[in-house]
Amino acid sequence: MARPVEIVPSVLPADFANLGEECRRLGEAGVDRIQWDVMDGNFVPNLTFGPDVIKACRPHTDVMFEAHLMVTDPDLLAKEYIDAGCEMLLVHAESSIHLHRSLANIRALGGQPAVALNPSTAVSAVEHVLDLVDMVLVMTVNPGFGGQAYIATMEPKIAELRARLDTRGLDHVDIEVDGGISKDTIAGAASAGANVFISGSALFKYPTLADGVADLRSRAEAAR
Ligand code: DX5
Repeated sequence: MARPVEIVPSVLPADFANLGEECRRLGEAGVDRIQWDVMDGNFVPNLTFGPDVIKACRPHTDVMFEAHLMVTDPDLLAKEYIDAGCEMLLVHAESSIHLHRSLANIRALGGQPAVALNPSTAVSAVEHVLDLVDMVLVMTVNPGFGGQAYIATMEPKIAELRARLDTRGLDHVDIEVDGGISKDTIAGAASAGANVFISGSALFKYPTLADGVADLRSRAEAAR
């Protein structure tokens, strides 16, 4: 059973002076979730949202929040982001020595665990935790900044991951892609096997957010 297409904005291009209102706008535009790019200035050369910022935005929309933890110590922060209102936490395979424990801990805290792979990291790196997660994120840029170019050589990696999940009977696990997703690139990622699409700069460039969500969704669905 093919997993449903989900369009998920990154809030990096949003108006940081009005994040609550931006979350409300995104919810009204029909997004399926909202992704917070959490960056600690160490794992990636950028610094963004603490849990209190997310907590302040939580009341402004009912849309599910996910926290993409681009941080050097995800275990230290997991509970804080769940308590702030993030239903899903994405942990980078490269950021946790005890990845199996990190992901199991998120589930024990009541969150939905997901694992993220940087472009240079092979699918095999997460072979032994695929049974613990609800989603795998295949980065299609090197993390840290929005507005970067899509790395199309990740498409065979997406296909390999989808095949591995389905072979193991883990067809309930979503595959998310993040980075450079636009009207020109979403079809390639979708045909490779992704079903959850993070879009930041491209989505915010549409005449309206609703136009962007609808266009990206239809392009992804047409490509599957
Ligand atoms: C990189 C970020 C970006 C962002 C999406 O660390 O995760 O990929 O979410 O940005 P765009 O859609 O502008 O590439």
